[in-house]
Amino acid sequence: MQVRRCVTVLVEPRESVDFDLAELALGETGVRERLGWLALAAHCDEEIPLDAAEVAVLGAVSPGHWQSLDDLSQRHPRAVLEALLAKGLLIAQEPTDEATRRFAQADEAVRAVHWRGLSAIAHRHTRWCDVDTEEAERLFSEASPQTFLERLGAAPSVVGERAASSSRLPLEKPSLSPLDALMDRRVTCRNFDPAPLSHDAFSAVLYRAFGARAVSDYAPGVQLLKKGVPSAGGLHATEVYLLVQRVEGVPPGLYHYHPIAHALEPLHELAADEAASLARRFVAAQAYYAGAPLQIALVSRFERNFWKYRNHAKAYRAVILDAGHLSQAMYLAATEMNLGAFITAAINEVEIEQAFGLGPMAEGPLAVCGFGVRAQARVTVEFDPAHRVWAA
Ligand SMILES: Cc1cc2nc3c(=O)[nH]c(=O)nc-3n(C[C@H](O)[C@H](O)[C@H](O)COP(=O)(O)O)c2cc1C
Repeated sequence: MQVRRCVTVLVEPRESVDFDLAELALGETGVRERLGWLALAAHCDEEIPLDAAEVAVLGAVSPGHWQSLDDLSQRHPRAVLEALLAKGLLIAQEPTDEATRRFAQADEAVRAVHWRGLSAIAHRHTRWCDVDTEEAERLFSEASPQTFLERLGAAPSVVGERAASSSRLPLEKPSLSPLDALMDRRVTCRNFDPAPLSHDAFSAVLYRAFGARAVSDYAPGVQLLKKGVPSAGGLHATEVYLLVQRVEGVPPGLYHYHPIAHALEPLHELAADEAASLARRFVAAQAYYAGAPLQIALVSRFERNFWKYRNHAKAYRAVILDAGHLSQAMYLAATEMNLGAFITAAINEVEIEQAFGLGPMAEGPLAVCGFGVRAQARVTVEFDPAHRVWAA
């Protein structure tokens, strides 16, 4: 059998803390600290415990050349090589069972996309699955008599000042423009009206925030888009996937937005209760965002950005910045139409990938945003200290 190491793996020495109840009963602290090696691989969701012998062998097998397992066994313990194969960290060229075949396919999917190693690990292992932030908050308040803010203490200063106030060079504020008025009214919305959103408002905000204003045939086989927001390399690798709950003329379901055609591509129709339950799971149980008439997953097609920025130290940062620009354009387009908008990074990426059929290392959600008509009353907190949206 020919094998090689998986393309990207980080071996982390991690200290974990657990409690020994028997020790606790004897009046000791019961706290047990353990140090061990964990492999974080770009093709596996799980963190994989390793022993020192496995770490040593992992560092001695090429990720590039296929080598015979028998030859490697001359230099390394066979049992260790087989353990690494079973854990998916050594990849078989011709897999003989379902598990090694899945590891080989997942490793190939990472190789195909030209990820920078550390970025690939960071992306794969910061995705959430089945996280419920409401439940986490409940557990937190049960575990401690202190509020969250009491536990954190004072925050670092609001501005990182670098000079005495007497040495500042004052700048003139501009006279108020329509852009100022618009930005003043931009307040993240956590209170959505349960009525459906009009089709016109839905379509207008989608176009202004995410639609292509021009298409350029930049080079043979390379098309670029011009949008209202900047994008690394002009590639606009971030796409919009929608979970629609209540939009006039659009049945509840999953859609992909086509930015050139300015059209929805229907993927999967949902019953209203299925859409509501999926919306809650997408945003990790943040009920106020699950109540929006639609959710937009900002999905980066890493393969498109990394086609140009191959194995590039800044590429992952750039696609995250792209998502931020799109979200701000959506906020402003929605605010202009007197709608409320939101964005959240607290999302269950794995469930979003599954719902839309996305290969996690080829294309993945970086944030969920959305918009809709604001409710008449503010039940959930919004940050509006200047009272531009809500009366005091
Ligand atoms: C990257 C990012 C992530 C955010 N994640 C969350 C979130 O998980 N939950 C939430 O309620 N709001 C989230 N927000 C919204 C912020 O809480 C909000 O912008 C902030 O409170 C300031 O309010 P404003 O947008 O009305 O000025 C996020 C905003 C950004 C830019």
